[in-house]
Amino acid sequence: MEELLKRLTETWGPSGREARVRALLQEVLAGRVDEMRVDALGNLICVKRPKGAARGRRVMFAAHMDEIGVIVTDIDERGFLRIGMVGGVSPQIAVGQRVLFENGLVGSVSHEPAPGVDFSRGESNELQFHKLWVDVGARSREEAEKLVGYGAMAVFHRPLEANEHVFIGKALDDRAGCAVLAQALLEMDEVGNEVYAVFTVQEEVGLRGARTSAYGVDPQIGFAIDVTGTGDTPKARPMAVKLGGGAAVKAMDMSLVTPPEIRDLMVERAERRGIPYQIEVLAMGGTDAGAIHLTRAGVPSGCISIPTRYLHTPAEMVSKDDMRACVDLVKALAEEPIAL
Ligand code: CO
Ligand code: ZN
Repeated sequence: MEELLKRLTETWGPSGREARVRALLQEVLAGRVDEMRVDALGNLICVKRPKGAARGRRVMFAAHMDEIGVIVTDIDERGFLRIGMVGGVSPQIAVGQRVLFENGLVGSVSHEPAPGVDFSRGESNELQFHKLWVDVGARSREEAEKLVGYGAMAVFHRPLEANEHVFIGKALDDRAGCAVLAQALLEMDEVGNEVYAVFTVQEEVGLRGARTSAYGVDPQIGFAIDVTGTGDTPKARPMAVKLGGGAAVKAMDMSLVTPPEIRDLMVERAERRGIPYQIEVLAMGGTDAGAIHLTRAGVPSGCISIPTRYLHTPAEMVSKDDMRACVDLVKALAEEPIAL
C-alpha cells in the first residue's frame, strides 16, 4: 500500500481537476472489479458483486480524489500571481510553500508585509489570504499569462515521506482514503454485499461529487472514508482520537450524525475481527457521508476516518497501523452481508 499511497499523494488533482488521480486508480483497479465507470461529473464508480448466495445490501463506500489548492485570480504587471482558495487553505500554512501547476511549473508562495513589519528580523503580521502571491519567476504580466494564465490551479508540492510508524505528505486528505479503499478492493475476493466503491470529485468545495454519485448509485447504506483530526498534539482542542489508536468510527461531525445502528455495526465488525478502532467526534468539518445520507429519501450512513495530524497542510501525518485498520474495517463491512 505504501507505493500506492506515494503515487496517489504525489499525483496532481485539486477539486474539479481529478483526471490524473482517476486515471491512476483506473490503472490500479483494472480487471480487479466487476465493473468500472465514470459519471458525468467525473466520479469513478467501481462495482464488486457477490458471487455466492449471500446477498446483503447495496453499499456505497466513498473516498474523495480531490485535494485542496489555489487558483490564479489576477496577475500584476511584474508577473506576480494573486490567488484564491480551492477548498480550505490557510494563509499561515501557505506562506513559504512551493505550489505546483498542472503544466509542471512550480511557484513560491509569499505574503505582503504590513507597514513597519520586517520579516527578515522574525517579525510577523496577521496573514490574510488576499495578501498572498505566487511567484513563478515570470518577468512580466505577459510572460506569466503565457506560463500559467487566469484560472490555473496549483497544489502544494511535496513528496510523500515515511518512517517506521507514519507517512507525512500533502493530500493525505483524502488520498489516504483512496489508498485504503483501493487496497481493500484489491484484497477482497468474495463480497457479501453489492459493493459500490466510489472515488469522488470536488469534496473539498462542498461534497459535490458524492451528492451526484450517490443519487446515481442509489445505495441502501453509505460510508465515507476520509481523514479526521486528532486531539493528541500539544494544546490540541479536546478530542479523544489519537494517531495510532486505530480506525476511527465517526459518531458525529458537522455534516453527519451517525445513526446508532450504523455505528454499532461498525463497532461490532471491528471487534469480531480484532481491528483496533476508536470513536470519533469531529467539531469542525464534514465528509462525503454528509452528502450521501441526504440522497433521495435518505441513506443511513457512517464514516471510517483515518486519524490525521496537521490537516490541510503539506505535512499531514497518518499512522501506518491506522491505515491498515481502516482497510480491514472496509473489508469487514463489505465481505459479510449487512442485514440492516
Ligand atoms: Co479536506
Ligand atoms: Zn477529506
